[in-house]
Amino acid sequence: MNAALAAGCAYVDGQYVPIAEARIPLLDMGFSRSDCTYDVVAVWQGGFFRLDAHLDRFDRSCACLQLAPPVGRDEVARILHECVGRSGLRDAYVEMIATRGVPNAGERDPRRITNRFYAYAIPYVWIANLDQQAKGLHLAIARNVERISPRAVDPTVKNFHWGDLVRGLFEAYDRAADNAVLVDANGFITEGPGFNVFACYRGQLVTPAEGVLHGITRQTVLELAAAEGITVRVGRVEPEMLREASEIFLTSTAGGLMPVTLLDGQAVGTGEPGAMTLRLRERYWDAHRGGQWVTPVHYPGG
Ligand SMILES: Cc1ncc(COP(=O)(O)O)c(C=O)c1O
Repeated sequence: MNAALAAGCAYVDGQYVPIAEARIPLLDMGFSRSDCTYDVVAVWQGGFFRLDAHLDRFDRSCACLQLAPPVGRDEVARILHECVGRSGLRDAYVEMIATRGVPNAGERDPRRITNRFYAYAIPYVWIANLDQQAKGLHLAIARNVERISPRAVDPTVKNFHWGDLVRGLFEAYDRAADNAVLVDANGFITEGPGFNVFACYRGQLVTPAEGVLHGITRQTVLELAAAEGITVRVGRVEPEMLREASEIFLTSTAGGLMPVTLLDGQAVGTGEPGAMTLRLRERYWDAHRGGQWVTPVHYPGG
């Protein structure tokens, strides 16, 4: 194993390099115009979790943005295996990125630029640290910033337009919270920086239908809840519903299900992670230990 790759391995310009040495060209429109899409899949205990679902979403995101990366789906999968395999990481955060690319001098027509593909694997990333996972997070409903309109940036296409989400985070910190969820122009709950939101409201699980990324973790929770006989309503979620909720949790590839026990400084339910949250979180991690959703990583010599 190459020790320089243990902190992460990137794929740039057809080469595998240590993450600390990975560079993208300054003139890539992915950087200068946010003209790109990406996806993140987790590797847990040596297996990709729901790799096909992530590759499907990535394909769809590329098509929506009229991006045609130079590598097809099978090649993307092979590169992701290589990045993880070469790093030797057993638990990893694995990102694939398609960018518009580097224009020829003076070129401003996005149709005339050759698109690029990058990927990397780094150690698994947690949105909530261990203490926060045990005690639950303090979530703020952002007041000073709203989620960018879905008519401007389609939230179902995974994107780097994080200006609103980052402003939300700073607002949360100013209010002594750990993280923020944003509302849309009509005041309905959407999502936060890197996660979807669920609440247990009047005995039913609810999560926003629109104005959000269709998170793979969100989808997994919907499927696990159905298997557990838990009713989920996917629809409009008002801030009041969160305030009255007995449980709230966040979902993301970067951390799974994360309980929220304080909302705008007020206890959620009993102020402890809720029973439904804990049950679904357990099912979620159980599903990582093997079964239909797990694809073993091809490690060198393994
Ligand atoms: C804005 C946003 N919403 C939701 C999610 C959660 O999606 P997933 O469960 O596929 O990681 C993410 C993940 O990065 C995100 O960026």
